[in-house]
Order: sequence, then structure tokens, then C-alpha cells
Amino acid sequence: MSRIIGKINEEVRRKTARRCKEKGVILPTFKQLRNPELIPQEIKDKLQPIGLWDINPLNLFRITWKNDIKTGLFGGVNYLEIPNELTGIKARVIGLVGKYFPTGAHKVGAAYGCLAPRLVTGEFDPTYHKAVWPSTGNYCRGGTFDSALLGVHAIAILPEEMSQERFDWLRQIGAEVIATPGCESNVKEIYDKCHELGADPQNLILNQFAEFGNPLWHYHVTAPAMEEVFNGLKGDKKNFAAYVSATGSAGTIGAGDYLRELYPLLKVVATEAAECPTLLNNGFGGHRIEGIGDKHVPWVHNVRNTDAVAAIRDEDCMRLFRLFNEPAGLEYIRSLGVSDETASDLSLLGISSICNLLASIKTAKYFDLTEDDIVFTIFTDAANMYDSRLVELNEQRGVYTSALAAIDFNVCLLSQTYDDFLELSYQDKKRIHNLKYYTWVEQQGKTYEEILEQWSPEYWKNIFDNNVERLDSLIEEFNALIEKS
Ligand SMILES: Cc1ncc(COP(=O)(O)O)c(C=O)c1O
Repeated sequence: MSRIIGKINEEVRRKTARRCKEKGVILPTFKQLRNPELIPQEIKDKLQPIGLWDINPLNLFRITWKNDIKTGLFGGVNYLEIPNELTGIKARVIGLVGKYFPTGAHKVGAAYGCLAPRLVTGEFDPTYHKAVWPSTGNYCRGGTFDSALLGVHAIAILPEEMSQERFDWLRQIGAEVIATPGCESNVKEIYDKCHELGADPQNLILNQFAEFGNPLWHYHVTAPAMEEVFNGLKGDKKNFAAYVSATGSAGTIGAGDYLRELYPLLKVVATEAAECPTLLNNGFGGHRIEGIGDKHVPWVHNVRNTDAVAAIRDEDCMRLFRLFNEPAGLEYIRSLGVSDETASDLSLLGISSICNLLASIKTAKYFDLTEDDIVFTIFTDAANMYDSRLVELNEQRGVYTSALAAIDFNVCLLSQTYDDFLELSYQDKKRIHNLKYYTWVEQQGKTYEEILEQWSPEYWKNIFDNNVERLDSLIEEFNALIEKS
């Protein structure tokens, strides 16, 4: 039984193909998103003049790490290395850059991973269903973007305390927006709203926390992008030492399952806010690292493949966010010998990207990583998603000065150590996995049998290895149906 690809409904599939024809939609395969060289030249020619964020269906082909924003075509993987002058560690830290996806964040890929199987099987009928995207921000952004391309009614659910930019953007793209009580970590309130909406058969809930299309996309697109960057780096003794990923829905960390096969000794490190240390010690609480940490363990998280947990203080992230974006901060950074180009590239890091950077530093310190070691992480989205947070911080704390920059650099970056860092024993992993029971089996209708099955590596291998070829061939079949419509 596939947990991603459902039964084919021929009638709906045909109807959907007709809708796609009307809208000019062609679906990219996962292969093409992983390797855009496979995209037909005819599509590339049409795509080139289209803006990265335009509501144009061809932008589905830009759900890849390889957009070249200079040419409008495709190039190498977008990544940024954070220099040792800033990290204060010997190991190299490299983050894939999410800013250059349509919508400005990599979550548009997870959304496509959840929607594509429903479209090509006829499970989702764009002429009847409304697509419901429960999220703490970027996933519903990606989902509503994909929905707009298909002319589908989208419902975005997100906590009311998320940044104003997110709400504004969702409304202008035409989504119905539902704000649930609380902040970042109030996911239970989102689930309650999903239950309420799910009572209406017209609402199809695409719950990223439980949809395997989410990590599947990262396994087949994000992880190979890291592999490619790693292979292109110089050095005979280079070592893919760690993969660090903040977990919101735990889709991105799914890339770690692919990387484990290539680099069996790597450390997969999950990151969360110290103010909501669910993985670290079953903790809970509100925090300001938008996009992560949800007081529960997502159903799609293969906890057994996670080697360590790093909890990061949200105050460190907020202060560094100022350091990396305020003029006095950047001047201070340049005074450390960091090039102008790298200093201005620091705006490629949104708040959770900074969390990932700090967790990479903790990882390197904990495992005594050296010059030969490379830590890969994800710069999910960029500072432009959080301009209003900078304004708020200026209002609350006054103008950012070089004295503050020196303090923040020394206190929040250089002095990071491996406090709130837990290397997971077999039983620690099991403790985190077991926590799924209360959310998923008790509250969300998953079965007792399946939570037991999830402890087996075979369960995950089956999900990651046995779906993508079939999915790609269904996508190709579906595109042929569109052409014939
Ligand atoms: C800004 C940001 N960072 C990190 C994440 C976490 O990614 P994932 O949901 O794949 O765990 C998200 C998820 O929405 C996000 O929006």
C-alpha cells in the first residue's frame, strides 16, 4: 500500500486535466525539479521572461534550488557559505538558499509534494474542492501560490501572531485566510480548525505535518542539491559531517534519510526553539522563531534517523537578525574582515535560518568538527519576509548601534556552546518517537499499528524509495492527458 499515491479516479483526473489545459498548467516531475536540465527547451524559453513570483503556471518548474535569478533560467544550486570569521568554528557551514524559490521560501516545494499526488490520481478535484493549507506561515504561502496557478480556492490557516507580511501576501493572492489563536507553536489550534473545516467534504485538508509528499520532496530534491554542492567543493579530505535542520513539519529534515545512505556517519541534527523544547525534553511554550517548533512531533518525522537535538534561544536569533540587517551591524561585520558581498548576503537568512546557523555552530562544537568537516543546513527563507520584525525591534529597543553589534556578535554567535544540545541515544530517540502517540493516535486518528511500524527503518525506506518513480510516471501520464484534453 502506498501512503502517498491513492486510488486513481479516472473521471476526476480527466476533469482536472481539462482545468489544467484551460489554465496552461503542465506539471513538473520530481526528476525535473531535482535536475532542471531535463525540462524541455520549449518550456524554458517561455519561462525565461516570467518573473519568479508571477502567478504563471510555468513557475511550477521553478520549484527547485537551481533558479538562476540573473538569467531567469537554471544554474547551479543556490547556496551560501558562512565564513569562519563569523561562525568562530573550524568547520565550514553551508546553507542552501530558499529565497530564490517562487514565494521566497522553499516550502512551496513541500506544498507541491503534497498536492501533486492528489492531482494526478484524481483525489483532488480543482473544480469542486477547496485546498486547505494548515501552516505556521510559508507552507500555506506555497500552497496558496500553487492553488492560484491552478485556479483553485485556497484556505490558508495560520496563527494570528505570525508576521504582518505573511497575512498581507496571502490576502493579495486571493486566499481565504483563517487566523487561529496564539503564536508559532500553537499547532493544536490549527488542527482543531482543520477538523471543523474537514466536516465539509468540499474542503480537502493537505496537512503537511502528516503528508508524506512533504518529506518526499525534500528527500528527492533538497538532499540531492546538497550532494551536488558537496561534490563540487574542493578538498581531498572533505567530510559531509552533519545536516542541521530546524523542524516545523519535519519535511526538510527528511533530506537526512537520503544523506544517511550516502554518508552513513553523518549527524542529522534537529533544531527547535529553546523556549519550546519539545524534542529536547518534551517541553512546550511560545517563541519567536517563525516557522518551527510546534509542541508536537510531526507524523512525517523519522525520529530514528535523527542523531541530536539542538535547542536555540529565540532572543539570540532576534539579536542576530538585527546584526545581519541593520547598517551598524553590517558595518561591524565588515570590520571583522568579512567581504562586502558576504555581509550583504546575510540578508538571505530569515529568523529560522539564523536558528539553523546557530545549531550548526553548536553541532560543530559538540562533535569537535575540524577544517575538513562540512556542516550543511538550510536557509529556508530570507530577511525580506520579516521587515516588520526589524521595525518592531527598533521601536521596542531603540536604534541599533555598533556597541550592540559587538555585544550581539560576541554573546549570540561566538559564545554559542553546546548547552541545550542532546546527542540522542537509542532510548532518547524512542522517547521522542513515542511522543507522537498523544497527538497522532489519541487525537488525530492515526492507528496504533502504524505508530509501531514507524519505528522500523523499512517503513521509511518504503515511503522514500518506492513512490517517486511511480509518481513521476503518473505526472507524465497526466501531462499527456492535459495535452489531449
Ligand atoms: C521559516 C521556516 N523555517 C523552517 C521551517 C521548517 O521546515 P519544515 O516544515 O520542513 O520542518 C518552516 C516551515 O514552515 C518555515 O516556514
